[in-house]
Parts: sequence; structure tokens; C-alpha cells
Amino acid sequence: MNDLDDLALVGKCDPSDFLGAVEGFPDQLRDAHERSLRAELLPGLKGIDSVAVLGMGGSGISGDVARVILGEESNLFVQTLKGYELPKWVGPKTLVFAVSYSGNTEETLTTFEEATQNRRAPVVIVTTGGELAARGRKLGVPIVEVPEGLQPRAAFGYLSIPILVVCERMGLGPKAGPAIEETIALAGRRSAQWGREVPASQNSAKQLALRLAGKVPLIYGSEGLAEVAAYRWKCQFNECSKVPAWWHVFPELNHNEVVGWKQLAPLTRDSMALLVLRHDGEHPRITKRIEVTLPLIEANLGFVQQVRAEGSSALARLIDLTYFGDFVGTYLAIAQGIDPAPVEVIAILKSKLAGGD
Ligand code: F6R
Repeated sequence: MNDLDDLALVGKCDPSDFLGAVEGFPDQLRDAHERSLRAELLPGLKGIDSVAVLGMGGSGISGDVARVILGEESNLFVQTLKGYELPKWVGPKTLVFAVSYSGNTEETLTTFEEATQNRRAPVVIVTTGGELAARGRKLGVPIVEVPEGLQPRAAFGYLSIPILVVCERMGLGPKAGPAIEETIALAGRRSAQWGREVPASQNSAKQLALRLAGKVPLIYGSEGLAEVAAYRWKCQFNECSKVPAWWHVFPELNHNEVVGWKQLAPLTRDSMALLVLRHDGEHPRITKRIEVTLPLIEANLGFVQQVRAEGSSALARLIDLTYFGDFVGTYLAIAQGIDPAPVEVIAILKSKLAGGD
């Protein structure tokens, strides 16, 4: 196991400084906010009743953030569409965001094409460039350009904030500014608490990563913002730490998954750890369900750890949860001696699907 306080070793394991991008996330949020305020808008849209976010993986999660944040405070129907096909409801009254960090993701290009060609939907693109930007420019589609050089999942702020700000500027969503300011300030404090300079003895992100080494993480959230955060944690463990990880959601898991801990207890006790993501806005019955559920299953897990968000706005709470997961997933990679940045298998898949070797 690598010593996470040995900064030379940390640098060696992380040659592209993925951890630096995580530590710099508060600045990214601020830059994302400023870019979104400057971005070109769609002229005079009337009667928009829904928002569709087209995107996959580290780009697509921006739509899940929008669904929770806009869904909570507006009458808009918001959905993320992660695939090749658009549902029937996407049409001229749907504001579509096509989000792809690289601008070259096959599924997103396919649904972008359908949205612009056949559905006559108004579209805004969020990307660094690629084919998506090229096609968008030809069609005169507004583009929120974000900087290159990051892994898509490390550009979480650049990809998520524009949707919230563009919706606000178009009079569709709630005021985004105060929640974004709160989120930036909280993330700034967290970066100072969880960054590499803070020794493991005082750094809860390093401590959790070290505890998780050798375990398969399972992450439970609850409907709404903690559900999105749980999925983000799962993906960060997969892509950064290169370990399998699973997630589920309260209250749904009380109706199925909770039964499944009975038979393989020796195996799950040895190999699995449960993280439960909590926040002060959760429904009181969810709080009760978590209190009742954990004692029923914890003996069948290596350990159970609860993670509680700070923040008063939904956005600050959501990002506070995901941000801790970003640090833990990155430290777990480094603790195992693994580079958190590359996602070799995704690159192989994309190349094979594009007809390469
Ligand atoms: C890699 C990552 C992936 C990509 C996904 C889609 O860091 O997070 O999940 O986000 O393969 O690619 P983009 O974001 O370029 O559309």
C-alpha cells in the first residue's frame, strides 16, 4: 500500500496530475460560472416545457445534476438521455443540451443529429471541440466552450454548471448564482481539508481511501441529489481506482437489495464495504429507513461508513458529496500504485467501435 503522505510517490503514481485537477475544482467551478455567463444564448425561445441533456459517462452526469437541481426548483421536465435514441417527447418545446467533453462521443453525436435534423429542437452544445463543435458551428448552434486537457470526469464543473446558468439566463430555471457561489466557497474549504498536503492523520479522504483498499465499494444514496452523488462515486471508483463498485438508492433498495445479504455473508464481509451518502435535506422517512436498514445488514459487510454533506443549497450538498468521492477515488488509485487518469478500456472500446484495431 502506498503512503499517501509521501508526496514524491504520489507524483510518481499520478504523472498527469489528476489529483491537481481535483484539488483545483473550486477554481474550475468559478471559471465554468464565468464562461456560462458569457456564453451566447438562443434567441427568443417561447413555450419550452422540457430539458433534455444528451451525454455519456463523465459528460452525461451533468444532466443528472440538472435533473435534480432544476427539477427541485422549477416546473421543467428534465431528463438525461444516455444512448442512441431520443424519446418521442423531445421536440421544438424541448431545450436540448448536447454535452461531450471530447465532442466525439458516438451516442451523443447520434442524438444531436436527430435533435437538430428531425425534432427541430433548440440545442446548446457544451464541449471542448471535436466533431460536435464542428457540426454545431455549421448549424449555428450556440456552444459553451470549455478548456481542453482534462479527463472528462475531471471536468465535472465545466460540464454541469453551464446547463444551470443557461437555463437561468433563458428564464427557465431558478437563480443559479447564489447556490454556485455557496458551492465554490464550500469546495474551497474542502480542497484545503482533503488536499495532498494534509496528512492522512487529519485527512478524512485519505483515511477512507486507505480503509477501502482491497474492498469492493458499494454506495447507497437516496432519491434526489444523493442518488446522483452515489452514481458519481461508483463511476469514480471504476474509472480512477480501477475497482468494481456498485450503487443503489433508498427507498427502492428496501424493496429488493436488502434481502440479498443473507446467503454469502462470509464472502461479502470479507470483500465489501458500504458507504452511505447523507444530507440534511433528505426526506424524514428516508432518515428512518437508513436507521432501520443499516443494523440489519452491517454484519455482512467489511465496514459501513456514512458520509454527510455540508451546505444549505441542493447544489452545494450534491457537489460536497461528489467532491469527497472524487478525492477518495483518486487517493484509492494512488494508494494501490495506480495512475488515476487513464481509462484504457474505454479508449479500446471507442477505437474498436470506430473500426480501429
Ligand atoms: C473519462 C470519462 C468517460 C467519458 C465518456 C464520454 O474520463 O469520464 O466516462 O466522459 O466516455 O466521453 P465524452 O465525455 O468525451 O463525451
